[in-house]
Amino acid sequence: GSGKFFVGGNWKCNGTKESISKLISDLNAATLENDVDVVVAPPFIYIDQVKNSLTDRIEVSAQNTWIGKGGAFTGEISAEQLVDIGCQWVILGHSERRHVIGEDDQFIGKKAAYALSQNLKVMACIGELLEEREAGKTFDVCFKQMKAFADNITNWTDVVIAYEPVWAIGTGKVASPEQAQEVHAAVRDWLKTNVSADVASSVRIIYGGSVNAANCAELAKKEDIDGFLVGGASLKGPDFATICNSV
Ligand code: G3H
Repeated sequence: GSGKFFVGGNWKCNGTKESISKLISDLNAATLENDVDVVVAPPFIYIDQVKNSLTDRIEVSAQNTWIGKGGAFTGEISAEQLVDIGCQWVILGHSERRHVIGEDDQFIGKKAAYALSQNLKVMACIGELLEEREAGKTFDVCFKQMKAFADNITNWTDVVIAYEPVWAIGTGKVASPEQAQEVHAAVRDWLKTNVSADVASSVRIIYGGSVNAANCAELAKKEDIDGFLVGGASLKGPDFATICNSV
């Protein structure tokens, strides 16, 4: 693998002040190994609550951001505002934003460029639909999504790539370690050819899609799996801690 193990918890559109307060207590009480970077992504409106009560050991991410500088964009949140409240990361290109909300590669790529310009670190998500996998297009789809990021990123130091096959997200149908490893290795190879050998060997490529406390250890053993982006299981503090400590 590359770099320090990285585990992100994407809370998606879940939680209340009360449930989040409980999750924060559980995370504050958890023992996290030193050899892992841990980040959680609450819904926007709870980021401030999390920043004010979660241990600094765990960094905080947004799940989305506006494409540019703030202004007359009703309902949006700017990168500047996220930085202002102490948020360090943003998830971009998540499959739910691509396929449910309808964001396209160019829009996502520009968001990445702007977020990085404001010193927000980026979890850049890619991944194929089931029908694309079945049609043998997994690599084509992932490489096209990678290109849109690469066209907009000059410094990869603050970027983590998250491979999340859409058919594995929230379905309980986790990719096998071999399936995930195959795509991670292909993405790393794509980076070597299209960006640089340096970036290919240093960037972390994490896996997401039905990761849980029971399946994380097998996945974590794979050479090119440098961590996880966890949805459902990140809402349970003890399970999330187990996943963080899986290497
Ligand atoms: O961002 C996280 C992924 O969408 C995975 O979600 O762990 O609930 O399958 P999940």
